[in-house]
Amino acid sequence: MTQTVTINVNGQVRALHLTPQASLLHVLRNDFELNGAKYGCGLGECGACTVLVDQTPARSCVIPALGVQGRTITTLEGLSLLNAQADPLHPVQRAFIDAQATQCGYCLNGMIMMTVALLLKNAQPSRQEILDTLSGNLCRCGAHVEILKAVELSIQYTMDLQSAKPKADVVNASSAPLSPTLKLGGSS
Ligand code: FES
Ligand code: FES
Repeated sequence: MTQTVTINVNGQVRALHLTPQASLLHVLRNDFELNGAKYGCGLGECGACTVLVDQTPARSCVIPALGVQGRTITTLEGLSLLNAQADPLHPVQRAFIDAQATQCGYCLNGMIMMTVALLLKNAQPSRQEILDTLSGNLCRCGAHVEILKAVELSIQYTMDLQSAKPKADVVNASSAPLSPTLKLGGSS
């Protein structure tokens, strides 16, 4: 039996007829045809499916789509909506490209969305806050050092954009060296 729900994804509002079992990830990929969020574990454990729900990161594979009526969903494809600059890419996306923080790329949606959410709350997170934020996101390829570099570059790019705005505060980004021994949780 289906129910009708109105879902707002990246500013696009659609009314859908869904069963209670339909996950938000399923709806994003199959109804909205947005494939940025990935299906990894399907159990809320790997972070590959992360999206923002009202700017809070959430694992879309375990969220019932019927439960997001009235909420604002932002996916990887919609990050430009959070970025008022001329660059169509969000500074975090630009940083991950410039840092070449990828091997297979399957985890990157989650890493990027978690970084965006972190920087929305705290423009200058510490190294420990970055590690804590990403510790629940798995990278099977072991690209952790490059991902950490990308997050630190994201801080710099975000601050650069803010400093370019009139009356914005100018604060230097963290330049602490990376440790080659750093590990994010769940790698194997
Ligand atoms: S696919 Fe959602 S947390 Fe792994
Ligand atoms: S780059 Fe392959 S899982 Fe992270």
